[in-house]
Amino acid sequence: MLGSRADRRGADRGPTGPAASRLAGPPALSPRDFARLSAFIEGRCGIRMPPSKRTLLESRLGRRVRELGLAGFGEYCEHVLGGAAGDEMVRMVDHVTTNKTDFFREPHHFELLVRDVLPALAAERGAGTRRPLRLWSAGCSTGEEPYTLAMVLLEAGRQAAGLRFGILATDLSTRVLERARGAEYTEAQVRPVPLPLRRRYLLRSVRDPQVVRVCQRVRELVALEQLNLLDADYRLRDRMDVIFCRNVFIYFERSVQERVLLQFARVLAPGGFLFLGHAESIAGLEVPFDPVAPTVYRRREGG
Ligand SMILES: C[S@@+](CC[C@H](N)C(=O)[O-])C[C@H]1O[C@@H](n2cnc3c(N)ncnc32)[C@H](O)[C@@H]1O
Repeated sequence: MLGSRADRRGADRGPTGPAASRLAGPPALSPRDFARLSAFIEGRCGIRMPPSKRTLLESRLGRRVRELGLAGFGEYCEHVLGGAAGDEMVRMVDHVTTNKTDFFREPHHFELLVRDVLPALAAERGAGTRRPLRLWSAGCSTGEEPYTLAMVLLEAGRQAAGLRFGILATDLSTRVLERARGAEYTEAQVRPVPLPLRRRYLLRSVRDPQVVRVCQRVRELVALEQLNLLDADYRLRDRMDVIFCRNVFIYFERSVQERVLLQFARVLAPGGFLFLGHAESIAGLEVPFDPVAPTVYRRREGG
């Protein structure tokens, strides 16, 4: 996501249309402007911005400052923090979020989902329940996680006829959601997808043989929406049975993690499951979840 040095040098070379900057060199982010921007980002998105991130923010947002033709970060702060530039807030978030993801990332989670979670939920819900299973990929980035879930569950449905499900996939960043909607990936990106699944669910683009597209049957099972996990009310229509929120909490303060987990507890059906990333844990937080496997938790009844 970071613009390379070469890009930046290129951008510095001189006036290039309406975005021509009034700056001679790359804009410098003063400690004061860093403090203003980092407080804003932490407050709105929960993403921690300790002083060690100053250089990162400077390089990520510096190009944006130039594109807008602003005199520096001081003007950029006025522009974003003044409240008038709602769109710019979304763009800024796009620049500061880290969106690394993969198909079949942490594959043991998908194995556990099929082997243990689906039977546990089926037993709990009883044979008579017609309601489809509802899963949520919270912080879905460019779509690899929810599309993996859809492929894995379609495969499970081949063994257990009648398995019906829907996946909600949300992210704060509109840029990654656009990419998820496109559902196009390179050969290298789809390499972790097992060959039989690639054959069944991925199509080679006619336009570009290096590009692979997730098939419509899989895409239709995934509803992509923008959602900020810091919102006070997620306004979800239905309660969830399973939440995957992996590699998102690492960017949040403990207090923000606790707040989001309490919201998850509200939207998860009792007995529902929560999957976190490999470096994330709820240990020490006052939340109604019990561990069932490393980084996998179950919503406590009541609580
Ligand atoms: C590193 S990616 C993880 C993607 C995927 N879950 C995985 O594990 O591969 C983290 C994602 O969390 C999103 N994110 C960060 N803060 C968020 C917030 N406050 N609300 C919603 N999404 C957020 C980022 O935009 C980013 O796409």
